[in-house]
Amino acid sequence: MYTILVLFILAVIPSVCTDQHTNDCDVLPKDPYIEMGSSIKLVCLTSCANSKVFWTLKSRPIDERLSNTINSTLTVVSLSNFTHHRATLECYSADTQQILGGSIITTYLKPRKISCTLDYVNQEGDGMPQLFTCSWEHQIDPSLTVNYTVWWASSLHSPPMEICSSNTTICTSNHSEIFDNFTVMVRAKTSNWEAYSDSYEFAPYQILKIIRPKVAVIVFSDHLLVTWNRSLGSQKCHCEIKHKALSADGGTQEWVRNKTLNKGENGKISIEKVESCIFYKISVRCALDQAPWSNWSEEKTVLSKLNKSHVRLNLWRKVTELDQNGVRRVRVMWTDIPSACQGTFKYTVTQMPYKEHMNSMNYTSCGNSTCDVDVDQDAQRLILTVFHDEVFLAKESVYVPAIGESLPQVTDIHTSTHEGVILVSWKAPVQPVSGYMVDWTHSGNHIYWKETKYTNATLFDLLDKKEYNITVTPLMADRTGHSTQALQICSRVGDPGKVDIIDVKAYDKSAYVSWDLKSQEECSGVVNDYTVFYGTLLNVTVDSKKQDVFLEDLKPDTQYRVYVEARALTGITRSTERFFTTKRFDPRLITALGVSGSVVIVLVLSLGLCCAIQWKKFMEKPVPNPGLSSVALWLSPSHQKRMCPFQPFHPSASFCDTVYTEETSRASTPPPDADCNGNPTTEQTEEYTDSVIILAPCVQAERPVEPVETQHSSSPTESTAFLSSESSPFNPYRSQSSGEVSSPRTSKQSKRIPAKNQEKATLKTVYVTLDMFEQDQSR
Ligand SMILES: *[C@@H]1O[C@H](CO)[C@@H](O)[C@H](O)[C@H]1NC(C)=O
Ligand SMILES: *[C@@H]1O[C@H](CO)[C@@H](O)[C@H](O)[C@H]1NC(C)=O
Ligand SMILES: *[C@@H]1O[C@H](CO)[C@@H](O)[C@H](O)[C@H]1NC(C)=O
Ligand SMILES: *[C@@H]1O[C@H](CO)[C@@H](O)[C@H](O)[C@H]1NC(C)=O
Ligand SMILES: *[C@@H]1O[C@H](CO)[C@@H](O)[C@H](O)[C@H]1NC(C)=O
Ligand SMILES: *[C@@H]1O[C@H](CO)[C@@H](O)[C@H](O)[C@H]1NC(C)=O
Ligand SMILES: *[C@@H]1O[C@H](CO)[C@@H](O)[C@H](O)[C@H]1NC(C)=O
Ligand SMILES: *[C@@H]1O[C@H](CO)[C@@H](O)[C@H](O)[C@H]1NC(C)=O
Ligand SMILES: *[C@@H]1O[C@H](CO)[C@@H](O)[C@H](O)[C@H]1NC(C)=O
Ligand SMILES: *[C@@H]1O[C@H](CO)[C@@H](O)[C@H](O)[C@H]1NC(C)=O
Ligand SMILES: *[C@@H]1O[C@H](CO)[C@@H](O)[C@H](O)[C@H]1NC(C)=O
Ligand SMILES: *[C@@H]1O[C@H](CO)[C@@H](O)[C@H](O)[C@H]1NC(C)=O
Repeated sequence: MYTILVLFILAVIPSVCTDQHTNDCDVLPKDPYIEMGSSIKLVCLTSCANSKVFWTLKSRPIDERLSNTINSTLTVVSLSNFTHHRATLECYSADTQQILGGSIITTYLKPRKISCTLDYVNQEGDGMPQLFTCSWEHQIDPSLTVNYTVWWASSLHSPPMEICSSNTTICTSNHSEIFDNFTVMVRAKTSNWEAYSDSYEFAPYQILKIIRPKVAVIVFSDHLLVTWNRSLGSQKCHCEIKHKALSADGGTQEWVRNKTLNKGENGKISIEKVESCIFYKISVRCALDQAPWSNWSEEKTVLSKLNKSHVRLNLWRKVTELDQNGVRRVRVMWTDIPSACQGTFKYTVTQMPYKEHMNSMNYTSCGNSTCDVDVDQDAQRLILTVFHDEVFLAKESVYVPAIGESLPQVTDIHTSTHEGVILVSWKAPVQPVSGYMVDWTHSGNHIYWKETKYTNATLFDLLDKKEYNITVTPLMADRTGHSTQALQICSRVGDPGKVDIIDVKAYDKSAYVSWDLKSQEECSGVVNDYTVFYGTLLNVTVDSKKQDVFLEDLKPDTQYRVYVEARALTGITRSTERFFTTKRFDPRLITALGVSGSVVIVLVLSLGLCCAIQWKKFMEKPVPNPGLSSVALWLSPSHQKRMCPFQPFHPSASFCDTVYTEETSRASTPPPDADCNGNPTTEQTEEYTDSVIILAPCVQAERPVEPVETQHSSSPTESTAFLSSESSPFNPYRSQSSGEVSSPRTSKQSKRIPAKNQEKATLKTVYVTLDMFEQDQSR
């Protein structure tokens, strides 16, 4: 902004000045480029002002001492060690404070730190190097296009020679006929300026990258011998020897060694401490004194040999319980020879009993790392012998104790897991032991073991979420103690098992969801609770004992998404989502409506039928014959409890002619239920004077051994009898029986049933009590 203002003033003021005066005011030179740190003098033409001037640099006044007024038209400022990247210098009239002119000074840097190398394109043959390469540093505005030119001059004072040009800070030439010290200079050129570097002197041997060495490796059983040829044997040189070991598990390890070769000496070095049967990659590079490194030689790959002293069998065994045949199976196991080792390996296990007949020994030929042998209950020593290409290689033995042998044993094994490793600790036995063997397995097929001096061990490289059986056995100088097994432990407890929604029943405002938990893995976490998520953000949590839930307060006719999460301390598993749509109406309501509709229809139909039948009967109703009646007690309402649902029939009649069957007084009570007309029958004792109760179907069902049955065969003539107190304790009165009665019809008078109803009457004998004398009592 300020710059724009200055430029504006610079443009306007001089024109104003020129209007008044013939001579221009200005600062010269205009917008110079100078090298960073160099000095510059600028002139202010002051003829238009005719006054003293002062200067500003980047808007800050400059020390007056740097300004020198030559005469009335000329003032000079001297700026030394100018280090601003870009700065505006302005000249002001001291009287008017007006700008008389300005100039923008930009600095540049020269190229520096030039380094050159002489190199070979052809890395096979010695001779003259083919490439001359120089590089340098140059800090410039990256947007600038710079042309660089490299100048070369031999020390023989010959004129500098341009040997290459480039637009980057590296330049390669094929000018290589260099025998003496020489100097190099770089010019950087842009459209505005050009900068020359200092000149750098080089000695040819100090910039020569010799051709890469040629390497040979000889493999010995315990070391590698590396030899190499280098060029320019007449010069002293330094070499680096790099060897990489590629271990069987894919890891690599790298070492670098130095070796200085004097004049005429060739390269040779021995690599000791070589591991058995692994691949080594070896390469070498060399450099003349103070010169750059050559390229690395081609990598030589060799396989090291099996070093007998490296063979560590780590022999161990695991013994099963004695079986019925008195045999214990022993899994003998050892660290096998690396499979990369060449040659054939043979393993045999020899069983050597501790008993007297030491001569009877059994040999078993084995696989590469395990062997199963059977032993009896006695102590044994198992000896593993390894042959490499039929030559004895190594031998180790392990002890199998006799059953019940008095030997130390560890106690209080404690296991815990931490980030995928199992920590085991135990209590040492009282007897002195030399160490412990810990073995662990999750399947029984692969058994891992390791020795420790301490009463603890950390088990690594475990399979995730597997149950491990861990055994600790104390070791003595030549024997082993008895093994102790720890409780099974999971290498890691995982998520709870898989949750599956097994059923979703949707209603209108609720839904029933049930699910199932399947623990597929042996180390699943224990579920703390389940959370059922449904709709958006709705959830309900139930404890781990429940596996179903009713979702309430749903909206009818709405689609819902539901899933279930099982939560354990060790993780959460989630079922897949299910979708359900709530019903528009409550299906139970529909069912209830359907059912009650049918019930109503049935009721209406039966009512109609009932009334029709009753009407018909009413029309044919016989009048009871008072001559056939007897006096009986009218049961109080409290005794009139049990009743047949269909019986009451009481066409309204006179108060005095209530007719009761004998059964009523014996066992039944008038029903509290509604009658055919829907009137409550509880009123009958008070209002109805004529009530006929047909008990037959009811009594038959409820009291199959009624005296009624016996009376069925009694005389058809009218007779009277006292009811037994057993069958009717409330009726001390004589009842009247009638052999022919009982069509469910009566009338105001007891009456003989017409003959046409006889066949129906045989089904049941009904006593009719004409209660006309007992009104007061019954009320
Ligand atoms: C001022 O000095 C410069 C350089 O010395 C000279 O060229 C110029 O003529 C002088 N101007 C006047 C008015 O003396
Ligand atoms: C130039 O300035 C730089 C820093 O501004 C300083 O280090 C250097 O000594 C100065 N050189 C001269 C010759 O004054
Ligand atoms: C540098 O020069 C090469 C050709 O010599 C050209 O292709 C490239 O564009 C140039 N780069 C710049 C930044 O000018
Ligand atoms: C160097 O290269 C130029 C062209 O790039 C070629 O003309 C010249 O013969 C080369 N000189 C040598 C010594 O290879
Ligand atoms: C840089 O070199 C190229 C060609 O080599 C040329 O066209 C260009 O003008 C040069 N630029 C400058 C600033 O010298
Ligand atoms: C060449 O340079 C090296 C080191 O810079 C110096 O030791 C040697 O004397 C120089 N040789 C000549 C001939 O100047
Ligand atoms: C090898 O030499 C380099 C320098 O040339 C040095 O830094 C390094 O320590 C040396 N290595 C050994 C193993 O001597
Ligand atoms: C034992 O190792 C050899 C190679 O060392 C291999 O060929 C052979 O299959 C291995 N045998 C078993 C049972 O693993
Ligand atoms: C050797 O093996 C045979 C049969 O497998 C068995 O009868 C015998 O008892 C074994 N001997 C010993 C010392 O284990
Ligand atoms: C681990 O030990 C248990 C008894 O604690 C046993 O039932 C199971 O078979 C053992 N598993 C293996 C693989 O040895
Ligand atoms: C095992 O015991 C040793 C000696 O008591 C102790 O230094 C070490 O920290 C213990 N390691 C673990 C994992 O407890
Ligand atoms: C469960 O629902 C409650 C509100 O009922 C809400 O505050 C909570 O964040 C929900 N929980 C989850 C895990 O969404």
